[in-house]
Amino acid sequence: MSSPSVPDFNCIAPVYDALAQLVYGDAQKRAQAHFLSLIPAGARVLVLGGGSGWILTELLRQSAPVHVLYLEPARNMLQQAQNRFRNTSSTAQVEFRLGTELDLTPQETFHVVLTPFVLDLFPAAEAYAMMQRLSQALLPGGLWLHTDFHASAPESQPVWQKLLLWGMYRFFGVVSNLSARELPPFEALFQKIGFKTHREAFYFRKFIRAQVLQKAVF
Ligand SMILES: C[S@@+](CC[C@H](N)C(=O)[O-])C[C@H]1O[C@@H](n2cnc3c(N)ncnc32)[C@H](O)[C@@H]1O
Repeated sequence: MSSPSVPDFNCIAPVYDALAQLVYGDAQKRAQAHFLSLIPAGARVLVLGGGSGWILTELLRQSAPVHVLYLEPARNMLQQAQNRFRNTSSTAQVEFRLGTELDLTPQETFHVVLTPFVLDLFPAAEAYAMMQRLSQALLPGGLWLHTDFHASAPESQPVWQKLLLWGMYRFFGVVSNLSARELPPFEALFQKIGFKTHREAFYFRKFIRAQVLQKAVF
């Protein structure tokens, strides 16, 4: 298994949300929030790479999990998420952990896993290794809420999407030390680990996709 490099979002953390809003308006947020109400009451939930924490507040507004593990390697992002949570009246049990999927213990399992704009940071082989690890942590029948950029086949992909992807990978390559240069082939990778899309929703002229995938029961 290849060992994933950790991109560094500490420097960009204070302005990340504003930057995303500037480029995509509220499309990224609406896409991430699209299926949150499907989280079953009493679920144990893993949020991987949630960033500044607005998604946690939204998740707790739309669902009633028993436990949330907020796993995020950028200290500055994690700090913002903790501050945001402190300012809510939520009594939900939330653990904020500085780290990556490699910091999950073998015993930890979840009914729901969220990957919001995080798997796109990695080259295909690393994204695949992460997805395998997350699949192990997801209970049979569990839901995987995946939200990310969606590229159609290269021959039919609009030029503006190619330019945006090129620009984002160059920008975050410099600012956040990403080694990836293109989106991982999500469809093929999910298929490889045995997941099927149950529901999906598109935003930003189909450039952003929210998916609900489910782990087989047997
Ligand atoms: C592009 S940002 C997206 C943040 C947030 N999900 C959003 O959409 O606003 C990616 C986030 O993933 C985090 N991250 C990077 N590598 C990670 C890993 N291996 N496991 C968990 N989080 C990771 C980064 O620190 C960053 O906060």
